[in-house]
Amino acid sequence: MTVLGIESSCDETAAAVWSDGSILSNIIASQAIHEQFGGVVPELASRAHHKTIWKTVNQALEEAQVSLDEIDAIAVAQGPGLMGSLLVGLSFAKGLSISQEKPIIGVNHIDAHMYANFIEHEEVYPFLALIVSGGHTRLVHVDKLFSHNVLGKTRDDAAGEAFDKIGKLLNLDYPAGPVIDKLSKKGDPGFHDFPRSMINKGLDFSFSGLKTSVLYYTQEKGDAFVQEHLNDICASVSGAITDVLQVKLKRGVKKTGVKNIMLAGGVSANSMLRDKVGMMAQKMGLNLMIPSSQYCTDNAAMIAVTGALKAREGHYDDLHIKPFARLQES
Ligand code: KG4
Ligand code: ZN
Repeated sequence: MTVLGIESSCDETAAAVWSDGSILSNIIASQAIHEQFGGVVPELASRAHHKTIWKTVNQALEEAQVSLDEIDAIAVAQGPGLMGSLLVGLSFAKGLSISQEKPIIGVNHIDAHMYANFIEHEEVYPFLALIVSGGHTRLVHVDKLFSHNVLGKTRDDAAGEAFDKIGKLLNLDYPAGPVIDKLSKKGDPGFHDFPRSMINKGLDFSFSGLKTSVLYYTQEKGDAFVQEHLNDICASVSGAITDVLQVKLKRGVKKTGVKNIMLAGGVSANSMLRDKVGMMAQKMGLNLMIPSSQYCTDNAAMIAVTGALKAREGHYDDLHIKPFARLQES
């Protein structure tokens, strides 16, 4: 079985080829145009996808040394995401499906972040997944393939959104998550005690209070102080976000009694989070799955592997498939 994966839900145009359990290529064309705006501009994202999608898919096929003829199915991100961006990928996939007479499989982008773990780890159930990306933060219990229960989610900002918005306050480049991660390594997480909202109760998350707290702190201290102590401030912010994530994950493990846990989504590339959750898993004797960093942030390998899992279960779509901007579930 060989699956072509296509991802265009936000600002990465990506294509990948999965074949019989391995990823043969994983091409990502990032859209630098958004940097100057400090966030993704939807119309520009759609245009950039349109410009690069054919080239990206071709590159993925070439690198995998697979021809379009040899593809058994086309998996494509169906949502959630930016409607215009999703439409580019989905329409392209439909065109290929018609011209090549290959079946199409719509893939949920959030599911794909989780199942990206099965590129490098053995497929096991049940598991508890902490999905932390720019658009979503949720704790999900998966009892079997494509069957899950949402235990907790953010009431306001997603974890990645918190990193990015706080980065903007600190005048860092977009997306700020990786920048804050890098600067944090040279700083002291105990430098300032930023709030860890809702850490003591439940499985839901809230990060907007932290953002406001950083705003007041930087206003009070002034630019010169912030510049002088940037590494320490970044480390303290990372400490606050990752403490909350790790504590909620631990609470979820205790509640469900699972032995398998995973991190998924862009923020799972964060080194402090990986360290904290790694230590926790070791102490509690848990099987921890984390994707290597190329499969944490948006990519098409995760779409291809999830498409292959759907194909295995006989879950194919037809040309009526439509994009969706938001998750349908609560
Ligand atoms: O999963 P993703 O690529 O896109 C969405 O589906 O949202 O996640 C992007 C998010 C951004 O907010 C980015 O700042 C964050 O992931 N991110 C990180 C790191 N790498 C990416 N946040 C913290 N530390 C990182 N190393
Ligand atoms: Zn994503």
